[in-house]
Amino acid sequence: MKELIRKLSETHSLTIEEYEQLVANRTDENARLLRKLAVGVRRDFYGNDIYIRGLIEITNICRNDCYYCGIRRSNVNCDRYRLTRDEIIACADEGYALGFRTFVLQGGEDSYFSDEILGGIVSGIKASHPDCAVTLSMGERSHDSYAYLKACGADRYLLRHETADPVHYSRLHPPAMSYENRIQCLHDLRELGYQVGCGFMVGSPYQDLRNIARDLKFIEDFRPEMCGIGPFIPHKDTPFHDMPAGTLELTCYLLSIIRLIHPPVLLPATTALGTIDPLGREKGIMSGANVVMPNLSPVNVRKKYELYDGKICTGEESAQCRECLSERMRKIGYEIVVGRGDFKRAV
Ligand code: 5AD
Ligand code: FES
Repeated sequence: MKELIRKLSETHSLTIEEYEQLVANRTDENARLLRKLAVGVRRDFYGNDIYIRGLIEITNICRNDCYYCGIRRSNVNCDRYRLTRDEIIACADEGYALGFRTFVLQGGEDSYFSDEILGGIVSGIKASHPDCAVTLSMGERSHDSYAYLKACGADRYLLRHETADPVHYSRLHPPAMSYENRIQCLHDLRELGYQVGCGFMVGSPYQDLRNIARDLKFIEDFRPEMCGIGPFIPHKDTPFHDMPAGTLELTCYLLSIIRLIHPPVLLPATTALGTIDPLGREKGIMSGANVVMPNLSPVNVRKKYELYDGKICTGEESAQCRECLSERMRKIGYEIVVGRGDFKRAV
């Protein structure tokens, strides 16, 4: 394994078979070595800086029915909401005052957010905060829609590929959704000049080591500017309610590998990681992540944007979350910086 780890860290590339071996042969010793190398290359690009993104959960209304997700259309227990344009802008203004320079508008696939409405919100935020980046995480849309939103000022787009295996994809999603369309969207976004984020859940139902190896190869080939991975956590009102959650250990191991595959990648220590372990985000950073995404949504909707059970930070005000994370990062020797936190192309 030492040989494989050395090859990965020097060439940033392994075969699918090699990725599978590396993940299968997880030992504390291998994890330590990967972590050390990952933290080392991250330091070359980003020093001790941690970037923050203010997450604004703008709607939990969704036309899709992904089997793993708590806001899926079929969940009748989900208390639906949609923020108004003014509420969204107010969250961004509050975030700006707290030092955020990137806002992530995330939501279900809610047809209310037409190009005109969503685009108007993006251009509104950009007009009052021209020094900020706006990231969208609003699911699958058409090429024209992505083009329109880009023209309104959107800088980045997050769309997790969820799994790089079409068969596995079909076990996580209803027949109306397709792997092909998902990947098409990612290519459209890239071609339109967005900074693009893909990603997947660790320990999603039916995921095997070969699936994970394919995800890693996909990341190697696609070279996303951002990559979101976090443990799968079951939600009580979904078909996957009694499936086991992904683990902290495997998620951190994969964070280190992804950092080595693509050293400059913007890699968040996700809220899901903080949910399965009280120090999950800290451990993610210490494994090679360099981004955290505190919640800026109005407190009265936070509990309703429940993709999985037990999500953290649903009771805290934005300022509290920001403070809490600064303190958490400081304690492990890192510093949250005020800035857009753009992808660095070269050392
Ligand atoms: N557990 C963990 N992550 C989830 N997501 C959706 N449902 C869950 C869950 N039950 C992730 C998906 C999606 C992102 C917004 O949240 O990967 O792309
Ligand atoms: Fe939200 Fe700690 S990060 S309360």
